[in-house]
Amino acid sequence: NLSKQVQIKEVGPRDGLQNEKKEIATEDKIEWINRMSESGLSYIEITSFVHPKWIPQLKDAVEVAKSIERKDGVTYAALVPNMKGLERAIEADVDEVSIFMSASESHNKNNINKSISETYPILREVVDEAKKAGKSVRGYVSTVFGCPYEGNVDEHQAIDVCDNLFNMGIDELSIGDTIGVANPVQVERVLSEFEKHFSKDKIALHFHDTRGMALANTVVALQLGYHIFDSALGGLGGCPYAKGASGNVATDDLAHMLQQMGLEQSIDLNKLQEAAQFIESKLDQPLPSKQMGISRRL
Ligand code: HMG
Ligand code: MG
Repeated sequence: NLSKQVQIKEVGPRDGLQNEKKEIATEDKIEWINRMSESGLSYIEITSFVHPKWIPQLKDAVEVAKSIERKDGVTYAALVPNMKGLERAIEADVDEVSIFMSASESHNKNNINKSISETYPILREVVDEAKKAGKSVRGYVSTVFGCPYEGNVDEHQAIDVCDNLFNMGIDELSIGDTIGVANPVQVERVLSEFEKHFSKDKIALHFHDTRGMALANTVVALQLGYHIFDSALGGLGGCPYAKGASGNVATDDLAHMLQQMGLEQSIDLNKLQEAAQFIESKLDQPLPSKQMGISRRL
């Protein structure tokens, strides 16, 4: 089952930065993304076109997308909540747009201000128009492994939401452990249910590492034959002082593990670490990844 080349999808400039309180200069975001492009990553989610009142850190989305160097072979994606966001994403000419919603009603409402049933027609229009504009479309479903408001989420409820998104014509779907509560036994149970409905080639795993379980969860998913994983360089994201908030599994830790396992050969780990050191120098606190810890102690 471990034979496939694994793909890492870098989400740090979007998922990481959206949680970062300190305002990062636009030129620093651009340089960071350019450095990551040079490290061998093949997919970078560079920003989001959500309402700047909600996520002020990413209000420079169009400028970032227009100013980065586009390297051949790298897909540059961005998060889009609605038609207004899609218009900005098309203006900025990203390669792929990511739509998003939640498996649980209360997280969906808190995150995007709509019920689940109100969200579908909005996203359907975004998918249709994005396809007409020649963009591939990724979907995210949050709270698949647990919700901050509702606790456990029934996997059939999550599968139903995923089914509706695939029926819109999306190309891939990333299922989120939004608050980092998933454990390996649960991941095995949920993914075994998912494989009855969806191709493993179209499902990505999006593990946040709040409780240090993300790499263990990743190994379980690998053993089940899943091979697309989202991560954020250095483990960027979340606030160490805010209860429950934490970043994605760290790209540098994930890439290191996959290379040791013989499942990843494309990424230059030294260049990746330099890119992590670059963004860390712009932050107020050290990045939490193990690899960054090692590089600081050396
Ligand atoms: P709303 O207020 O319900 O939107 O927000 P609305 O459609 O009622 O519009 C209200 C006003 O906002 C209008 O302006 C719109 O033009 C404007 P007015 O006419 O009043 O002057 N507006 C926009 N402006 C710029 N860009 C836009 C946009 N849309 C409307 N795209 C909305 C609904 C979804 C926009 C809002 O709730 C929002 O932006 N939410 C952002 C939520 C977010 O970014 N969350 C984090 C990302 S999701 C995540 O992290 C999870 C994930 O990582 C997976 C996981 O870990 O589980 C993906
Ligand atoms: Mg996330």
